[in-house]
Amino acid sequence: MKFFLDTADVSAIKLINELGVVDGVTTNPSIISKEGRDFETVIKEICQIVDGPVSAEVTGEAAEDMIAEARSIAQWAPNVVVKIPMTTEGLKAVNVLSREGIKTNVTLIFTVSQGLMAIKAGATYISPFVGRLEDIGTDAYQLIADLRAIIDFYDYDAKIIAASIRNTVHVEEVAKLGAHIATIPDALFAKMTQHPLTAQGLEIFAKDWAAFKQ
Ligand code: E4P
Repeated sequence: MKFFLDTADVSAIKLINELGVVDGVTTNPSIISKEGRDFETVIKEICQIVDGPVSAEVTGEAAEDMIAEARSIAQWAPNVVVKIPMTTEGLKAVNVLSREGIKTNVTLIFTVSQGLMAIKAGATYISPFVGRLEDIGTDAYQLIADLRAIIDFYDYDAKIIAASIRNTVHVEEVAKLGAHIATIPDALFAKMTQHPLTAQGLEIFAKDWAAFKQ
């Protein structure tokens, strides 16, 4: 399973990348806007830090606008992936871009049908949103399991990026269900290394070691 970082915070990406667990990065317009810096500059910086795929989202709504934006974003770095929203215009764009060899990540997926449409249009990645589905009381885990079963059954190349990950249980569950990738906010990475018993154990070891040395 791969872990992507769901942030555009370059300092956080540099720090977490040192752990050797980061396989890529995803961003969206909300994430980019938090940085208060130029979109292209931020994405280029991230692409230099992380070897794996870095998703940068288009903001146009018509297929031709998305295609033009995507062609330009694709020039920014060899590892850039263009994020396209799950709309009919988005699918038209994905169809054209995939034929040009431009990698796409179709975002805002909430149903199996949407996932299937994105896969068939030629998406490299599909991003079902776990947290946002849970927010409206819908079973997001079933969606992940169903999409993985379909990809395996038909031997599709598309990979699932479980997105809108909010806590460690989300990461653990999507891992068990076969999401190829989980995209995780930087703050959550720290929590994934921690447990109160680990901290307590370290305290006990340090205390016992100090007593032994005396
Ligand atoms: C990443 O691809 C998504 O845009 C992101 O995970 C959405 O997360 P949120 O629902 O917490 O905003």
